[in-house]
Amino acid sequence: MTRLMIVIASTRPGRVGLPVGLWFDERARAHGGFDVDLADLAEINLPFMDEPNHPRLQQYTKEHTMQWSARVAQAEAFVFVTPEYNYGLCAPLKNAIDFLHNEWFYKPFGFVSYGGVSAGTRAVQMTKQVLSPLRMFPTFEAVSIPFVTQFIDDEGQVQANEVMDQAADAMLDELARVSDALAPLRSA
Ligand SMILES: Cc1cc2nc3c(=O)[nH]c(=O)nc-3n(C[C@H](O)[C@H](O)[C@H](O)COP(=O)(O)O)c2cc1C
Repeated sequence: MTRLMIVIASTRPGRVGLPVGLWFDERARAHGGFDVDLADLAEINLPFMDEPNHPRLQQYTKEHTMQWSARVAQAEAFVFVTPEYNYGLCAPLKNAIDFLHNEWFYKPFGFVSYGGVSAGTRAVQMTKQVLSPLRMFPTFEAVSIPFVTQFIDDEGQVQANEVMDQAADAMLDELARVSDALAPLRSA
């Protein structure tokens, strides 16, 4: 089993990110190859980066950083459930990434992105750039959801189409493969 962390990036009240994240969480658990940790950044509630030392030193001074560090260190692969704000990644996700360093190393990641016509893909491209110095590896496979509200029903739940389901499964398969391939680098 690959330890997968699903990160819900949006922290806004009424966010679409929550139902999208819950849909993907269910899909990932049904896959059978993952031990899933759903990390909701609204619940985790990190302040703006408030550590005095560069995170590569791992000299953390705050309880919230130590807890986030332990949780991310446990994970072997990530899926970021992310909107696009002003053509870029949302601030809570950037902040959560910046808090840590070594904990991210040699782990693969994928996206469930959503938005209007662009389906959040500009945020995806920007996030890949941010994660590359952390020695992380993107999957080609991704779930990209355009005009996301059309997939939310009256109960506020995601009703996925076949394209979304197939993309999710393809991304999960690839995350497991790449995570296994990177395991020697993580243990070195
Ligand atoms: C500050 C802000 C900026 C936004 N910028 C974009 C954008 O650049 N591209 C886009 O497709 N949607 C944009 N939107 C619309 C979002 O796609 C939509 O509000 C979505 O529900 C946001 O995700 P969330 O509800 O999980 O926070 C923006 C929304 C907000 C609040």
